[in-house]
Amino acid sequence: MPRTHLVLDSAFTVGPVRRRLFGGFVEHLGRHVYDGIHEPAHETADEHGFRKDVVELVKELGVSAIRYPGGNFVSGYKWEDGVGPVEQRPRRLDLAWHSTETNEVGLHEFQHWLDAVGSEMMLAVNLGTRGTQEAIELLEYANIDAGTALSEYRRSNGRQEPFAIQMWCLGNEMDGPWQLGHKNAEDYGKLAAMTAKAMRQIQPDLELVACGSSGASMPTFGEWERTVLEHTYDDVDYISAHAYYEEGDDLTSFLASGVNMDHFIKTVTTAADHVQAQKKSDKRIDISFDEWNVWSISKWEEQQKTFELQDWPVAPRLLEDVYTVADAVVVGGLLISLLRHADRVASASIAQLVNVIGPIMTEPGGPAWRQTTFFPFSLTSRLANGTSLQVKASGDTVDGGKHGEVPVVDSAATVEDGKAAVFLVNRHQTETTSVTIDLAGLQVDGDVRAEGIWDDDLHAVNDLGNRERVALRTNETVRREGDTITIELPPVSWTAVSIG
Ligand code: AHR
Repeated sequence: MPRTHLVLDSAFTVGPVRRRLFGGFVEHLGRHVYDGIHEPAHETADEHGFRKDVVELVKELGVSAIRYPGGNFVSGYKWEDGVGPVEQRPRRLDLAWHSTETNEVGLHEFQHWLDAVGSEMMLAVNLGTRGTQEAIELLEYANIDAGTALSEYRRSNGRQEPFAIQMWCLGNEMDGPWQLGHKNAEDYGKLAAMTAKAMRQIQPDLELVACGSSGASMPTFGEWERTVLEHTYDDVDYISAHAYYEEGDDLTSFLASGVNMDHFIKTVTTAADHVQAQKKSDKRIDISFDEWNVWSISKWEEQQKTFELQDWPVAPRLLEDVYTVADAVVVGGLLISLLRHADRVASASIAQLVNVIGPIMTEPGGPAWRQTTFFPFSLTSRLANGTSLQVKASGDTVDGGKHGEVPVVDSAATVEDGKAAVFLVNRHQTETTSVTIDLAGLQVDGDVRAEGIWDDDLHAVNDLGNRERVALRTNETVRREGDTITIELPPVSWTAVSIG
């Protein structure tokens, strides 16, 4: 049986776990907003038309800041279309997703939903087809108390107090040729800097995110970050990172996706620190990992080929990936990578939340349920508190496919107020792995408990026909003797051990 030994010590820390690490993302895309979170005719709908069953699941998921309204959608969006009397709002072509946007949900409605789920808004501005002027107008509308045309317009639309939105994304994936208004790094960097400066003239303490690369495989990756930050370093707080992973026909590499995420984070921070050194700046730029998940992008590319030019449906079924047990194990592994870099990843958003590559699914007029990926996210969000620890790991390795030889067990740990949590992935496809955890350097007493996801059928899913096929399981092998914990991890499994 492969073996792994982990040592935890409160003297070896990564940094504080910021709650925004457990953020989400709602885009006007497919059935995310309409027939996802918003379905006025549903039996659970509240007075604003939002499904209360979905609200309850989002609360259980434990998401902090939620990015809105896109994504690719935002690069063609006019925020003004989404405010004012609903019956007067225009229907528009959404070029990003070849759909019709009805604008029934806009800024005010989305804020009602955020109030219900208890999350903070992270708002993206359109720097694709629009620019600085529209961004500052949106900021005036959202955050100025009163006495100007746009703040008074907000008040006349029923919201007296400002939205007080703190975190803003300066566009979306502007490096991507698919993006409306796609730009080169120079042009985007100048526009982002100009927009950030103007926004800070209105509100200096905003937290601003410049677009990084839309993936580590982009041809401009690295160079894009350097150039954009050379223009924006003094004006922004974060650079974004986006990463999606797909099993395809390579489970071995898929299970080691966290290695790629680790590398991605290190490369982006290196680019940011390079610009910091060039500028002799005291300021450090951290990462907003504002899109990450498992996504069968190849299925989406196939679906796109079936689109008819004349069809612009409202809320079509797009990107409705049904997640497997293996997907959940990888999502758990990606959360481990994010925790391991809690010092440099200031915020992260699982992309997305409902129906569209989401941990939650809904059926119109029917139920809402948890996908497999719901479980590692909700348990990590609940247990990972306080300080992220550097885990000193030694043990066996396994083939990680295109990522090379990798540790058979990946791990992260957190500690707070006499309680600790250890997150573990066994990447081995056939063997149970034994893990020992040395806690002598942590002052944590109390019981130990282990829950996780594994299954004889790696491709088991929860779907409309069987909504509870996959759920958290208790690992009965976990034991504590003095300062040592032992546990056996089933093949292809994700586990959270809580202590105290
Ligand atoms: O999350 C789906 C899409 O993926 C987003 O709209 C875009 O930003 C990314 O390419």
